Amino acid sequence: MDPTFRATRGAGGTYVPPADKSITHRALMLAAIADSPSRVGRPLATGDCVSTRRCLESLGVRIIDADGGVEVRGVGLRGFREPLGTLDAENSGTTTRLLSGLLAGQKLFAVLSGDESLVRRPMARVVQPLREMGARIEGRDGGKFAPLCFLPGTGDLRPLSWELPVPSAQVKSSLLLAALRASASSSIGGKTGSRDHTERMLRSLGVRIDTSGVRLDVHPAGRLPGFEVDVPGDVSSAAFFVAASLISGKPLVVRGCGINPTRLGFIEAARRMGASALIAEEGVSLGEPFGTVTITPGSLRGTVVGPDEVPELIDEIPLLAVLGLFARGVTRVSGASELRVKESDRLEMIARMVQGLGGSIETTEDGFVVEGPQKLGSPAAVDPGGDHRIAMAAAVAGAGIPGGVRVSGFDCSRVSYPDFIRDFRALGGEVA
Ligand code: S3P
Repeated sequence: MDPTFRATRGAGGTYVPPADKSITHRALMLAAIADSPSRVGRPLATGDCVSTRRCLESLGVRIIDADGGVEVRGVGLRGFREPLGTLDAENSGTTTRLLSGLLAGQKLFAVLSGDESLVRRPMARVVQPLREMGARIEGRDGGKFAPLCFLPGTGDLRPLSWELPVPSAQVKSSLLLAALRASASSSIGGKTGSRDHTERMLRSLGVRIDTSGVRLDVHPAGRLPGFEVDVPGDVSSAAFFVAASLISGKPLVVRGCGINPTRLGFIEAARRMGASALIAEEGVSLGEPFGTVTITPGSLRGTVVGPDEVPELIDEIPLLAVLGLFARGVTRVSGASELRVKESDRLEMIARMVQGLGGSIETTEDGFVVEGPQKLGSPAAVDPGGDHRIAMAAAVAGAGIPGGVRVSGFDCSRVSYPDFIRDFRALGGEVA
């Protein structure tokens, strides 16, 4: 599918984004290890989260589609069944890393792998600390990459004291999940924080996690109770339409949106770029706040994003490059070398995307510099190389290019946003 995206009358209005991917993964996994049934309302039922669901089902967890969500029959912290075949995480790094924390040291043998992109992503960052906890894990190239092989253990692990070398929520969450089965409390530190969904959700379930700065001290859990959660909208998905609103000058109201402060870096950057953003909290579900985000565009100007801010907008960085093309002045991102080990080398893909849009950008080892406003190609054409976030970032650039942007292989957007085209149209855009 190679659609062309345009928005000659602008893109804006009121809308509800798809369910949060990070929270869906965690809700399914926590429900799987709870010792009574849970209800996960409005989960993201596509791509990466389907990978998580299938892996959990292969581990003997029953997940039943129920009205507006799923019922998960949790098997307890040590209740997984040995899977018959390979657990396939497909394109999902979150599935692989978080599930590694759940599988480490269990009384079973399991192999976890994924697609061509996944088997190239770094896994030593979870394998090494999980081995420190006593788990026997083998993997390609000494455990640096999937396929990962989990050898049977006792079900229990040793407590961990670990400094995260990169601020990765996936790694932190993997270790938090493993620490639930440790014999005493574990301590996980690092230089910079990252999205804190796992901590919030675990605390809501009664797990004791003490914090001092970035450091987390997590106490083992005897059990996790079943729970009910309604997954809020994904602010990282909404970010595409925030960008379209900013580019085309039409206001946007995002309802039912997750507003966890550790996910709001892009909204903060949008403010600095000239937008007004009002965030109204309307409730909390399993520790996760949600509400309405109202965006009023202003005249766009460049901004600077440094290393401390990167974890809070890691998935929105392609959008910062797109906005930088339309904004007056310089937009600079640094400290984002993690983008080189995402679903693609995303810094390289950002450069290719900008090239396809007919613009220019200077990429560095850990970021980029873009100066705008630029005259872009019209029509433009981008090949996102199978990376969902690059595909959708290129599409929203179409909101500012009269001839539109043709995005080849747009199907890859399904990984996180199956109804992107429907929503683009509903907000006034044209897709041909
Ligand atoms: C995620 C964390 C981020 C993010 C990814 C989802 C998560 O990765 O890029 O899309 O759900 O924990 P890292 O924290 O590993 O950078």
